[in-house]
Amino acid sequence: MRMTQEELLATCKAVLQKNNRGNWTIPAGGLYPHQWLWDSCFIAIGLRHYDVDRAQQELISLLRGQWSNGMLPNMILTQGILKQHSPEFWRSHVSPYSPDDVPTSGITQPPMLAEAIVRVGEKLTKTERRSFYQRMYPGLLAYHNWLYNERDPRKEGLVTLVHPWESGLDNTPPWMHQMHSHALPLWVRIIDRTGLDNLVTFVRKDTRYALPGERLSNVDSLTLYSLQRKLRRLHYDNSRVLKKAPFALQDIVFNSIFMRANYLLLEIANTIKQKVPDDLMQNIKRSEEAFDKFWEAYNGQYYSRSFETGKLVRVGSIGTLMPLYAGIVTEERAELLVRHLHDKNMFGSQFPVATTPLNSSYFHPHTYWQGPAWINTNWLVADGLRRYGYKDEANWIIKQSLELVSKHGCEEYFSPIDGSPAGVKNFSWTAALTIDFLNQA
Ligand code: GLC
Repeated sequence: MRMTQEELLATCKAVLQKNNRGNWTIPAGGLYPHQWLWDSCFIAIGLRHYDVDRAQQELISLLRGQWSNGMLPNMILTQGILKQHSPEFWRSHVSPYSPDDVPTSGITQPPMLAEAIVRVGEKLTKTERRSFYQRMYPGLLAYHNWLYNERDPRKEGLVTLVHPWESGLDNTPPWMHQMHSHALPLWVRIIDRTGLDNLVTFVRKDTRYALPGERLSNVDSLTLYSLQRKLRRLHYDNSRVLKKAPFALQDIVFNSIFMRANYLLLEIANTIKQKVPDDLMQNIKRSEEAFDKFWEAYNGQYYSRSFETGKLVRVGSIGTLMPLYAGIVTEERAELLVRHLHDKNMFGSQFPVATTPLNSSYFHPHTYWQGPAWINTNWLVADGLRRYGYKDEANWIIKQSLELVSKHGCEEYFSPIDGSPAGVKNFSWTAALTIDFLNQA
C-alpha cells in the first residue's frame, strides 16, 4: 500500500528522529552507529525543511572530527561495536593531525559539505546565513585545500582516493575492477585458495544486516581490511601512501562532487566577503581544464582514472552521469549522457537510476553499489539534469524515487528493475532526501 504525501513526510521525519543522536544523526541503527560525512550532508539537506537549527548543528558537528591538516574524516566514531570501524581499529591517533579527543577514521568521503551549507543557508535569513557561513567557512576552506595539497600531489587538478570507501560507493565496479586487477595480498590469497574465507562470514557484521550476496565477497572484504591496515601502518601520511598505491583512483564521482563544491565554496566566500586564496583559485582552474581527462570520446562516457598509470578504468558505473552534477560538461556532452539515461541497456530502467549499467557483467539488482537505485545518487543526478534544463528526466527520477519510498519505506536501496527494497531499514539519507524531493515535486 502506498503512503499519502502526509504519511510519507511523517514516516521520513520519524526515521530521522529515531536516528537522531542529539546534534548529529546515525545513518541507521545496528550496522551504522557512527556519524558519516556525506550522510550528514544529505541529512542536513532534508532537516532544513522543518528544523533549520538542527540542520545547522548536523553540519557543525562534522567539524569536531576535522584533522588539523584539514581532512574531514568519513566517520566520527562512537565507541566500537563493529570491529573494522572501531576507534581501536582505525587508531586515528597514529597521525599527528587527528583530533586529540575525537576518534575518527583516517580517510575521507565525497565533499558534499559545501552543497549542504548552501542548501541550509537558503532557509536562513540574510543575517543568519552570513553568520552560519562564517562559522563553516574556515573548516570548508581547509578541507578543500587539504584535498588539493595532499591528494593532488602532481598538481594535475584531479583528486586521488586511496580507499574505495572514500568514493562513498564502496564496491562500485571500477574500484572492484581496479582491486581485482592488482595482486591480492599474499595472506588473502592463501585464505581464498584454502576456502577459509567462509569462516570470515562468522565475524562479519554487515552480512548480519543484509544478505551476504548483496555485500562484498569475503575475499574482497579481506582485501579492503588489509588496505585499511596498510593506511594505518603508514600513519595516514598521504605522501607515503601515494608512493605505493596501485589501487588509487582519481574517482569520477568524487571529482564531480568536488568540482561543484568548489563553485559553491566561491559562492559562500562571496556572500561573506572573504577573498579566496590565489592558490585555491589556481587549483580550481586547473581542475576545470583537467576534467576532460575523464572523458572517453569513443563511447561518450566519463570514467575514473588510475593514479598510477593515468589510464581510464573503462568499467561502467553511475559515475558516468555525475559530471552533469559537476556542471562542467558542454551541452553536447550533456545530451550524450542523457541518452545513456534513456538507454534501456544502460540506465533506462523502470526505477532509475541503476548504480551500475544494466548491461554490465557486474550488474545485480540487489548488490549494494553494483546495481540498486539509491536515493542520494538519484538526488545528485536529478540536480544535475535540472540545471542542464532536462526537467522531464529530473522529474521522472524524483517521481519514481517517491514512489519507491512511499511503497516500501525508508529502505537503504532498491532494485532498479522492480523496485524491491534491500539493505537496512530506516535509512537516514533515504528519509532526508525524500523530504527534499517532496519539496521539489
Ligand atoms: C556505506 C555506504 C556509504 C555510506 C555508509 C553509511 O558504507 O557505501 O556511502 O556513507 O554506508 O551510510
